[in-house]
Amino acid sequence: MSNDPLLQPYRLKHLTLRNRIIVTSHEPAYPEDGMPKERYRAYTVERARGGVALTMTAGSAAVSKDSPPVFNNLLAWKDEIVPWIRQMTDAVHEEGAAIMIQLTHLGRRTRWDKGDWLPVLAPSHHREAAHRAFPKKIEDWDIERVIGDFADAAERMKAGGMDGVELEAYGHLIDQFTSPLTNELDGPYGGSLDNRLRFCLDVFRAMRERVGDDFILGIRYTADETLPGGTDKTEGMEISRRLKDSGLIDYLNVIRGHIDTDPGLTDVIPIQGMASAPHLDFAGEIRAATGFPTFHAARIPDVATARHAIAAGKVDMVGMTRAHMTDPHIVRKIMERREDDIRPCVGANYCLDRIYQGGMAFCIHNAATGREATMPHVIAKAPARKKVVVVGAGPAGLEAARVAAERGHEVVVFEAAGQPGGQIRLTAQNERRREMMGIIDWRMGQCEKRGVAFRFNTWADAGTVGAENPDVVVIATGGLPHTEVLSRGNDLVVSAWDIISGDVKPGANVLVYDDAGDHAGLQAAEVLAKSGARVEIMTPDRSFAPEVMAMNLVPYMRSLQRLDVTFTVTWRLQAAERSGNRITAFVGSDYGEVITERSVDQIVVNHGTIPLDELYFDLKPASGNLGEVSYDDLIDGRPQTVARNPDGRFRLFRIGDAVAARNTHAAIYDALRLMKDI
Ligand SMILES: Cc1cc2nc3c(=O)[nH]c(=O)nc-3n(C[C@H](O)[C@H](O)[C@H](O)COP(=O)(O)O)c2cc1C
Ligand code: SF4
Repeated sequence: MSNDPLLQPYRLKHLTLRNRIIVTSHEPAYPEDGMPKERYRAYTVERARGGVALTMTAGSAAVSKDSPPVFNNLLAWKDEIVPWIRQMTDAVHEEGAAIMIQLTHLGRRTRWDKGDWLPVLAPSHHREAAHRAFPKKIEDWDIERVIGDFADAAERMKAGGMDGVELEAYGHLIDQFTSPLTNELDGPYGGSLDNRLRFCLDVFRAMRERVGDDFILGIRYTADETLPGGTDKTEGMEISRRLKDSGLIDYLNVIRGHIDTDPGLTDVIPIQGMASAPHLDFAGEIRAATGFPTFHAARIPDVATARHAIAAGKVDMVGMTRAHMTDPHIVRKIMERREDDIRPCVGANYCLDRIYQGGMAFCIHNAATGREATMPHVIAKAPARKKVVVVGAGPAGLEAARVAAERGHEVVVFEAAGQPGGQIRLTAQNERRREMMGIIDWRMGQCEKRGVAFRFNTWADAGTVGAENPDVVVIATGGLPHTEVLSRGNDLVVSAWDIISGDVKPGANVLVYDDAGDHAGLQAAEVLAKSGARVEIMTPDRSFAPEVMAMNLVPYMRSLQRLDVTFTVTWRLQAAERSGNRITAFVGSDYGEVITERSVDQIVVNHGTIPLDELYFDLKPASGNLGEVSYDDLIDGRPQTVARNPDGRFRLFRIGDAVAARNTHAAIYDALRLMKDI
């Protein structure tokens, strides 16, 4: 048996967990009609198959109708959920993992215009900044009803074959009772700590009575809100002790921080560029003080840090949640001594940011996650070996090369630059986004292991490609900045890439015109402001940087506000004119006939990319499919069979930004779904 601390079994009450790695509760927003159907089940089972000890499914499954999901959570208040849960738990158990579910009442952390349009509920009228609803102050009959709802839901989960239930307390109704900041009740549930904790313990008591002793009950709670006037560390320690001493609970899952604002949430669940495992020592202090089973997750993305968490006795079970979204087979790879094959979570937080915008959680560089029913995590060998030429070694090209090589094909990659990475290399210029290179480095490692030939510093033309005698050609040449957005004066602007790459020196008084709204605009603004420039970011949209999304915006704002960068929304840059050694910017609006002027010395435009597609069009006439893709075959997961030109010598495909400006995930998904059937 291995002596790896991570691979040691752990006994949690009657349950034996096969190792020390868990997936903590998270809602990927895959439910259909509030139920965990095929997509949900396939996603969950893949992590169990990959070896995780315990998968904690369903972040924040709702127990009451006045806790309507804001981003498509499971509806644990419905009886019809039981058979769906049963299908999932049976399948997970068959893979040897334990499975639990997290239940919640969101309290004020939701909206009244969702679900059944019921008033939002909290122990005070204070609204939560993130969800904006002004809550109703909870009454005695609400308290009784919600406690009953928790017990009913726990019973349903037990009937569905779950090994246990975790209460989502932090930021939700239970901790809204506990925190002095959100509890303004009089009487038995307000005031002293005894009273503020009463609701939590009443809920556990009601659930325990219903589910009996042979069922795990745990809590995920904040033991330090890090907010003035909130639950502080001293009180958090006391709460931890009382939870343990209640005898109702089997483990503590420790959170530090608060989630009522985007910055607060981002400190609880840090993203790339932020500290690794920032709350692990704190969780360790709680374990030491209570001597009680302690779980914790917060940016422990790599095996070495997870191993330290266990070996140093900081926690009993270590959460690697986003890490498992990126690679569901972490434990299997540890056991097979293939840690270097683990696809790294780069902390891009595309997964989490998407759900807050109403989308499903997808991983920026694993397009199979959440699509297990149609996309493979392990690529199958092709029936026959082909010669595949890929042009471009950005994320799309490298994914195409990796998948083709795993299919067993002979692969050659041409890249005009001296190094792989494309736009990712540019993005990684920002210190905080350096981890993005993991997307490239992992693929390079996988390609090299499978003998992919790379030709860097090579500008491939039709002759270069033809000389390889390929069966399949994939054009992944990406794009170049598109800055031609003005009615006049386009020659006076530079691109965001020019600034990020350092090719153009920053001006002193700069207008950044960003109607793409992605990272490049903010990144350029940061470079400019750090050089001492006075920077205004302008967009014709209602909000700035919409593609960056909530949690990714936090580190930018922390930097840009300090640098005094200003933001102007709903104004459209129309034209630019040279005026001496300055530039006059003419600014209009989509809302009316109004024009204002700015005098600046530099205009930076971020307007996406225009495809670099010359080679594709040069090759098209010589290809058998004339570049055509059958979207039906692509979507249904069948090999491409379009035949347009009997003289064609190869099949030709174009992916990623070489088709149209999109993002890294789209580029990688393009490549995976095409190449898995080549
Ligand atoms: C898509 C997504 C949804 C999440 N939803 C929940 C949730 O509903 N309840 C919860 O307690 N944590 C939720 N989390 C937080 C995770 O459980 C975990 O604490 C967090 O991702 C930090 O751990 P990690 O760095 O290992 O990913 C969510 C995380 C993700 C990525
Ligand atoms: S999107 Fe980023 S943070 Fe989320 S799982 Fe993928 S690599 Fe990790």
